[in-house]
Amino acid sequence: MKQAVVASTINPITKASSIMHKTGLALVCVLVAAYFVAVPVANAQAADAMAVRGKRLYENRGCKSCHGIGRKMIAPDLMGLEQRRSKEWIYKWLKETDVMIASDSTAMALVQEWNGARMPKQRLTDNDIDAMLAYVRAQETRIQAGK
Ligand code: HEC
Repeated sequence: MKQAVVASTINPITKASSIMHKTGLALVCVLVAAYFVAVPVANAQAADAMAVRGKRLYENRGCKSCHGIGRKMIAPDLMGLEQRRSKEWIYKWLKETDVMIASDSTAMALVQEWNGARMPKQRLTDNDIDAMLAYVRAQETRIQAGK
């Protein structure tokens, strides 16, 4: 009985504010949850879009006629590229291929390994390279998944 009396003495405004507080909290939780679902999805979609752009580049710029991904053609297999070369090296190679061949020890060793073949100078932008790497990554994932 005592409790009921205490409860009935609670100011209705306090009650309403408590309900609103709880609703607000629930809403925040839903939004936070939605964020953690939506952001990875959006990121995955952005990565997909990059990979599609990269694929186009890879085909249009002729990379495809010399390089394979997951197979050896007349130039290094690009599978595992990011594991064996630093990002910095890859960007420099794809922007100043000729300078690299003339000055970088890894590049010189590659030319030797590929019997003196010299990759034609590429002038890719950072964004092109990002897209190309996204495509290589997507192909690696596809191959590793056995598809
Ligand atoms: C005419 C053939 C040819 C074309 C076209 C070509 N490459 Fe190459 N690429 C080579 C050769 C050969 C090498 C090995 C280094 C050398 O001998 O110049 C190489 C090396 C590389 C490497 C370094 C590989 C490693 O293991 O470190 C990357 C990355 C690369 N090429 C990416 C590309 C991309 C991206 C394109 C297209 C924009 C492209 N290449 C176009 C022939 C080619």
